[in-house]
Amino acid sequence: LRPATPAAVDEAAACLRAGGVVAFPTETVYGLGALADCEAAVRRVFAIKGRPADHPLIVHLADADWMDRWARHVPDAAKALARAFWPGPLTLVLERQPHVLDAVTGGQDSVALRVPDHPVARDLIRAAGALVAPSANRFGRVSPTTAQHVLADLGADVDLILDGGPCRHGVESTIVGLLDDPPTLLRPGAIAADRLEAILGRPLARRDAGVRVSGSLPAHYAPATPLELLPAETLWQRLVMLARQGLRPAVLALQTPPAMPPQTQLTILPAEPERYAHALYATLRALDASGCDRILVEAPPATTAWEAVRDRLQRAAYATAAGARGSAGT
Ligand code: TXA
Ligand code: MG
Repeated sequence: LRPATPAAVDEAAACLRAGGVVAFPTETVYGLGALADCEAAVRRVFAIKGRPADHPLIVHLADADWMDRWARHVPDAAKALARAFWPGPLTLVLERQPHVLDAVTGGQDSVALRVPDHPVARDLIRAAGALVAPSANRFGRVSPTTAQHVLADLGADVDLILDGGPCRHGVESTIVGLLDDPPTLLRPGAIAADRLEAILGRPLARRDAGVRVSGSLPAHYAPATPLELLPAETLWQRLVMLARQGLRPAVLALQTPPAMPPQTQLTILPAEPERYAHALYATLRALDASGCDRILVEAPPATTAWEAVRDRLQRAAYATAAGARGSAGT
């Protein structure tokens, strides 16, 4: 783990050019970087994460000018979105250039591209070249929002971890597919869908079941502790019930509850979606580490602004339900 000084970034770039794997900060979550042109390094990323080989990776670019080298055709809608939101937490899925490795695209005809808005990420990419960078966590688990999270998850398996402090957004990029018209929201993320729709001047289509987005596996982004997502009214009843069974539930709420059984571990997160997202993954990790045996989460409002947070919480809760039914989740 190294503070991301200019010297450390240079060293990391040299390591990447030699086929190494480096974890680095972005404005969303920490990424596990490898040169997108280096098949052996890309394969190592899959091995370190324990990620199935047919799950494609995002190629991170230093500048929108790099798009043409990776995408064969950039439709006007993609240009408009890139102009409005790059650098930033938006990923565009486009027709790939023929040279793009199958290891990167999962063998699909498309490639996912994004220009991250983090000075360390951009300096690193400028010095090393385009990087694949899945979130730097084991497959199916909570994404890392600090270098310490990466160290705890992947520690000895990566060549270098650049520490650029906590990530500004704390939730992954929004992914938009531009292979069909209208553009499709493939993963809700740090940029709310209505902001993209304002630029496009029309609504996004919703997820296409035919495209493989690993974030679209139901059980993804899960803490190790079972998690239940409940409306405030039923949450307090459930809490009392679990406490009566002798369990130690933790509660993640938007407001202080009227009354709680003793020994309940209560975390109040901000009732504002961007600030909530910023704290969510770190909070789930802290609750995992706290030894509670159930996490009860108050369901956030059903509005567009909360879509990314709701999506991640639903997946985490799904993993619990799948576990309860006896299937493995991820
Ligand atoms: O914010 C982010 O996007 C972070 C940071 C590190 O940049 N990265 C990230 O990567 O979340 P990862 O690998 O955890 O998620 C990448 C998502 C997956 O859901 C993957 O299936 C999807 O992008 N994806 C990649 N290429 C695709 C393609 N050609 N078509 C559809 N989905 C694609
Ligand atoms: Mg991920």
